[in-house]
Amino acid sequence: MTALPASPSFATEPPRPPRPDWSARFRHFADEDCPEDPLYQALCRLLAAQPALLALMDEAPPEQAQPNLYLAALHARVMAAPQSALAAYFPSVGGRRLPDEALAAVLAGFVADHEAALRSLLRHRATQTNEIGRCALLWPALQHLARAGGRRRLALFDFGCSAGLNLGVDAYRYRYLGEDGQAVEAGALADRDAPQISCRWQGALPRPEAGFELAFRQGVDLRPLHAAEPEDARWLLACLWPHDQERRERLQSALALARQRAWPVQAADDGLARLEAWLDGLPPDVQPVLFHSWVLYYFQAADRLRHGQRVERLMAHRGLWWLSAESRADSDWPADTALAPRPDGVSAGSATLWQWRRAGQAPQALAWSHPHGRFAHWLAPAAGAPGPR
Ligand SMILES: C[S@@+](CC[C@H](N)C(=O)[O-])C[C@H]1O[C@@H](n2cnc3c(N)ncnc32)[C@H](O)[C@@H]1O
Repeated sequence: MTALPASPSFATEPPRPPRPDWSARFRHFADEDCPEDPLYQALCRLLAAQPALLALMDEAPPEQAQPNLYLAALHARVMAAPQSALAAYFPSVGGRRLPDEALAAVLAGFVADHEAALRSLLRHRATQTNEIGRCALLWPALQHLARAGGRRRLALFDFGCSAGLNLGVDAYRYRYLGEDGQAVEAGALADRDAPQISCRWQGALPRPEAGFELAFRQGVDLRPLHAAEPEDARWLLACLWPHDQERRERLQSALALARQRAWPVQAADDGLARLEAWLDGLPPDVQPVLFHSWVLYYFQAADRLRHGQRVERLMAHRGLWWLSAESRADSDWPADTALAPRPDGVSAGSATLWQWRRAGQAPQALAWSHPHGRFAHWLAPAAGAPGPR
């Protein structure tokens, strides 16, 4: 008897990973991640109870398969269809209706009407933010670096820049509110239309004058978004939660400014290779600064190590300085730098740690902050005073 040839597809196909338990994940998300958002909580619970609606999650690539991707996709379609019945529940498009008994049927109808577009968003988009609130820290950090190096002219390279909105750090207005009620206004004060960023501040307040000039700027991202592309801009807004009007208005005004100024943003699979080429074109009188915020979170441990080694080489041989704003888990945070408890609370895991380095120097802690820059605890001797050399 002749043996049957082995089926090639049988022999080579990797085993399929088990299908996630979407119902459990959406219920967990409702309980743990959105207790302060009744609409998202209700939507997650309704989706968890309707397997046919949840099945759309199978479109999402494994690394993006999170409930907030579905919520962002729904939000994007609601923004595209503000006359729909579901839009009546979304404050971001003027809806005022609270979750009620009709919501289940309205949601099912909306998903049926928008199924093709929702599937496409789940397949192709990633939950992606671009938070200009972080510029409340970036601005004094650049001020600090300019003084530390005695060079006013800086060249800023934003690695993982999303839509590049933080490249506009010198185009925003800042209001720093100190603990004793003192306030400092800084940034683009002459531009009344510039996005306004407020930050409650502990520690020495920034100086009102910038003390730095962004002579060059460049952003790279694996999958950049473009402020001038309506679909990209809508996606960024859709990734915000519908009740957060203040953040939405600030993002809209930053997107409008980015459309005018067209901060340079490029797609790059290897952002550090792009950085190296960019350094070649800089004049010798500028101080190049590599910046990244909430990017290392996406890296596997081995990639993070390799990233650090490559940056160290660029610091040693190309005079690069490194400014990072990452979570504690993703930071080489100086061991003796504690995070003092905040009465207004942010978990240690979601705090952003700001630090900088240059060749031959240990990481210098600058600050830690709320992940969106709502408050900051400045740790360096003074915002704007020279750091140790
Ligand atoms: C949470 S967002 C932060 C965006 C921006 N830095 C900010 O603070 O608003 C993370 C960004 O990092 C990008 N990213 C992740 N891995 C990357 C890599 N290896 N190279 C470049 N960009 C990357 C993602 O595409 C995403 O836009």
